[in-house]
Amino acid sequence: MTRVASSHSPDPAPEPADRLHRDADPGPGSDPAPEAAPDADPATAAFRELLTGPGRALLDRLAAGHRPEDEIALVTRLRRDHPAELVSAALAQAALRRRAAAKFAPEDAARMFFTADGVEQATRAEVARHRARRMAALGARRVADLCCGNGGDAVELARAGLRVLAVDRSPLACAAARANADALGVGDLVEVRQDDVTTTDLADCDALFVDPARRAGGSRRFDPEAYSPALSWSVAAARRLPVAALKTGPGIDHADLPADAETEWVSDGGAVKEAVLWFGTGLPGRYRATLLPAGDSFLTDATTEPPTGEAGRYLYEPDGAVIRARGVADVVAEVGGRLLDPAIAYVTADTLVATRRATAYELTDVLPFGLKRLKALLRERGIGSLTIKKRGFAMTPEELRAKLRLEPRRHRATATLFLTRSAAGPLMMLGHPAEQPTH
Ligand SMILES: C[S@@+](CC[C@H](N)C(=O)[O-])C[C@H]1O[C@@H](n2cnc3c(N)ncnc32)[C@H](O)[C@@H]1O
Repeated sequence: MTRVASSHSPDPAPEPADRLHRDADPGPGSDPAPEAAPDADPATAAFRELLTGPGRALLDRLAAGHRPEDEIALVTRLRRDHPAELVSAALAQAALRRRAAAKFAPEDAARMFFTADGVEQATRAEVARHRARRMAALGARRVADLCCGNGGDAVELARAGLRVLAVDRSPLACAAARANADALGVGDLVEVRQDDVTTTDLADCDALFVDPARRAGGSRRFDPEAYSPALSWSVAAARRLPVAALKTGPGIDHADLPADAETEWVSDGGAVKEAVLWFGTGLPGRYRATLLPAGDSFLTDATTEPPTGEAGRYLYEPDGAVIRARGVADVVAEVGGRLLDPAIAYVTADTLVATRRATAYELTDVLPFGLKRLKALLRERGIGSLTIKKRGFAMTPEELRAKLRLEPRRHRATATLFLTRSAAGPLMMLGHPAEQPTH
């Protein structure tokens, strides 16, 4: 196990390798290769160098950005005063910070440090913040953030007022997590430990958060037993502490959800980001959908099969988190509606009802699907721009769009097209977002 010391000393920083390896005991179960001697690799050594005074100064010079065509001249200038590896690392880091601004507040991203995988794997700050606040509200005080990566979750847990033990086996991830906690002003609340999470000591923690590695060979892992660590390990660890949150992919099979966990699907801006298995909420076996950024959270209630029937004047498209949390029947009940098909998450109703679980559309046309008929309808309505959505329909929006040959310059109207199936066969529905009535 290696404790990663704080790097926010105002003095010129010591050699970063010293800071990381101050407590060099590898500890039981720590992963020896290939990360045990990271500085053998010049790029890795350069990353560490970025955390030192000269490295940070170089990053500051790159903060304003530059035009691609100016890069060669810039590199030539910087190499006069700095080693080539450091210049390359600083340019790469500046690019990672720019990418990270899509997930983190830009003012945070501009001060943070990322490993190449780190930005890719990091939780969006909005999502991490929601989870952290929920954990604090459940009474946690010192949380083990297992598989902390670059520390994005650790920072939000600390900002929610928790003390954090952040653990990762990657020395570089730990160096980044340490630097990030310090850079964002929560260094005192975060202890970073380089270790294997499956053997690390959690003795003084009362809560657990695990965000396992879910990528291998570049492709997403769907089997939760193929996560690192495996979901079964995390569940066993979760059951030993008062509160725990285990992050999984949003597409996790419901059959893999432990009966004693509450599962929360979280979407941000309409895209489902994660499913979290919660222990210690007092709601075992329940499903919840949380919709960010608004923060609305819905426990799935309905237990009866919703009715089905023909399309009415309005179509409600439930948020993906609501769908994953099996809350479509709750939307049907809320809007007094019905499903078009028992297996498809399109809800229809004759009236417009305020709901935060779904987006409502007013339908102008509902017809059996037919390409010629659709082209004629779009021409008649002067529609040149179309948002195409589909559920339970074989053709992809791209395929259909190619066949439609829309002419947005000539036809100025816009519409949303829904392709789906009903008892009567394939269906196309044209409409536009409805003004939501006030709640
Ligand atoms: C998905 S990332 C974590 C991202 C992080 N929560 C964030 O928001 O930045 C998964 C991390 O798990 C770490 N990891 C996987 N298996 C591990 C193990 N057995 N022990 C320690 N770390 C492990 C990897 O090194 C990687 O940094």
